[in-house]
Amino acid sequence: MKKIISVVGARPNFMKMAPIHKEFLKHKSKVKHIIVHTGQHYDGKMSEVFFKELELPKPDVYLGVGSQSHAEQKARIMIEFEKVLQKEKPDLIIVYGDVNSTIAAAIVGSKILNSKSKPIPIAHVESGLRSFDRSMPEEINRIVTDVLSEYLFVTEPSGIRNLKKEGIDEKKIFFSGNTMIDSLKFYQKKISKSKITNELCITKRGYSLITLHRPSNVDSKSNLKTISEIFKSINRINPDTDIVFSVHPRTLKMINKFRLDKIYNSIENLIITEPLGYFDFLNLLGGAKYIITDSGGIQEETTFLKIPCITMRENTERPVTSEIGTNVITGLNEKLILKNIKSIESGKFKKGRIPKYWDGKSAKRIVNILLKKI
Ligand code: UD1
Ligand code: UDP
Repeated sequence: MKKIISVVGARPNFMKMAPIHKEFLKHKSKVKHIIVHTGQHYDGKMSEVFFKELELPKPDVYLGVGSQSHAEQKARIMIEFEKVLQKEKPDLIIVYGDVNSTIAAAIVGSKILNSKSKPIPIAHVESGLRSFDRSMPEEINRIVTDVLSEYLFVTEPSGIRNLKKEGIDEKKIFFSGNTMIDSLKFYQKKISKSKITNELCITKRGYSLITLHRPSNVDSKSNLKTISEIFKSINRINPDTDIVFSVHPRTLKMINKFRLDKIYNSIENLIITEPLGYFDFLNLLGGAKYIITDSGGIQEETTFLKIPCITMRENTERPVTSEIGTNVITGLNEKLILKNIKSIESGKFKKGRIPKYWDGKSAKRIVNILLKKI
């Protein structure tokens, strides 16, 4: 019996891991899959709701690290996770995406030797993505995690190119597709049953949906102010369109800290919500006229569902979403944002295609490879 530990901690990790867990359950006689939750995200609406909706069991281990500075958060994860590894001695560690929990777990795992005096192998799900912007904490997390990983599972062709350029052995790279899309496909029926549009009194294609949480956007008072101005301009050209803003806890904290709450609360047509559950959020995403976001995963979900996505960032580590999908990268350039909204309104916006292997079978590919390798 092989023992495999998955480490998750922040909202986008859960939907990437859920299909892998389901796949391992099909091989129960061969594999024990242990879920370690670092506690990087801990609010019910950032964590527990996803375990419930994605039908995940309670984590086997909860490290409870909470919010800290980058160094402190990673250090606490490392100290606690080392104890778990010493007790469990797994055959493999799987890490997901690009959050602090990902890099911290990878660093610890690669320094602990297994019974064959070798470091515990690490599998990185969603490997190879690069924004080429080292001011983003996620970029550092991605680069370091990839260097330490033995099995690198890539979601899009750019990932293969980036890893090869960085000198990663081709034999370690596997083009497996996107497990976040596996979750979306698996739960499409339940997503369609959400009553969230009724609850918010909005109608299909009569609203846009916003999420923002990147430090470059929300940790700056002037950028948060600029964003509120952009919302007002959108209102002027689209007075009949509601704007649903699902507010991330980091963003709420910064809006309050900079005392911008009055400005945001006074924007006409702006419906401010707490972070939404997975089914409600994806129901809204599928029914929206367009999305404005700085999220990584939402650029992919909109491409899969062919919903126009305006990304308020200067770059993307997911270029396939703008090259063949429905994503456009605008930063905070108001003119460009309004131009794209007009193109969406007039039906001229690009229609997009679904990237290769975003077919709901990525977790199966990954688990089949891992079962052969370990
Ligand atoms: C983290 C990830 C980011 C990812 C995002 C997904 C890192 C470096 N960043 O950013 O890549 O896109 O998650 O959502 O790993 N907070 C709460 N409740 C919670 C969690 C956080 O109130 O359950 C607040 C705290 O004030 C905290 C702040 O949000 O200080 C930021 O949380 P943190 O996990 O450090 O980073 P995120 O911005 O969530
Ligand atoms: N999401 C959600 N509720 C929300 C906002 C996002 O369920 O209110 C989901 C979204 O559908 C996607 C994931 O959370 O599956 C993306 O997480 P996030 O944007 O926090 O992180 P990122 O992808 O930027 O790292």
